[in-house]
Amino acid sequence: MARPVALGTDDKLFRALHRRHVDGGRPPPPWGALRVDALDDATRERLRAAWSARVAAEYRSMVVFSELLARMPEAGLPLEVSCAASRLVADEARHTEYCARLADALGGRADATVTDDDLRLADGALSARLFVARWTASMFCVGESASVGLLQALAREATDPCVRAVLDALLRDESLHDRFGWALARAVFPALTDDEREWLGADLAFAFAHYDRQNGRSLRPDGAALPDEPVGCDAYAGATHGVVAPARYARAWYERLDAVILPGLAALGVPAYEAWALRHEAR
Ligand SMILES: [Fe+2]
Ligand SMILES: [Fe+2]
Repeated sequence: MARPVALGTDDKLFRALHRRHVDGGRPPPPWGALRVDALDDATRERLRAAWSARVAAEYRSMVVFSELLARMPEAGLPLEVSCAASRLVADEARHTEYCARLADALGGRADATVTDDDLRLADGALSARLFVARWTASMFCVGESASVGLLQALAREATDPCVRAVLDALLRDESLHDRFGWALARAVFPALTDDEREWLGADLAFAFAHYDRQNGRSLRPDGAALPDEPVGCDAYAGATHGVVAPARYARAWYERLDAVILPGLAALGVPAYEAWALRHEAR
């Protein structure tokens, strides 16, 4: 059943603790400086839909990171790793709130819903070690690492001061999450057996298929150069407020994939290039 992402409570303690985590001692984005009046209806709806989708995605990150965290001790990881992961959970709550405020200002987020399946990673058949390895590879080494390149592409073109501050906050956090993910991978992958690595590669093909559809719209055939940017990318309506032309977004994904994700995973012994090539069969 799809349910809305619930935000807001009357309880003072919850509110105070939440604010302390979300604000983190830093000035909040300048919400009063957000300007949406000059946007035409179509652009505003495009932006609203994009920020609303980000609400659901960030909320899902918060919940599933908690599930990953819960299995870290069982996977033999030390206290420091679990503690560091808890910081990431709070960061994703910050992202959820910031994206929700922008979506609300742009017209609402009734379509920011999640299902029970969206909020569960659980697979009782997997050992804790392989469970942590699986989601480290896909959510961190692919997902979080990609988000750094994608947010950089959005931030480069955002001129609204409030949207720019939100994107800067997200980028600051995601850069740390990217580093955390690679550190976690270095802690987890070396202990995998050859069979487990092979399984991880096959599983990664599904993650690549998902992220390529989502970020690259599968625009680059195998062996091809980066897709060209069609005319109009520079003046894309909405770029001022955090949405860039799909071709530009795709390019940012493929650049990050080639420069960081594929070589980074391969260097850790994961058959990443094979997994990328197999993504067509993993749909
Ligand atoms: Fe996030
Ligand atoms: Fe993140």
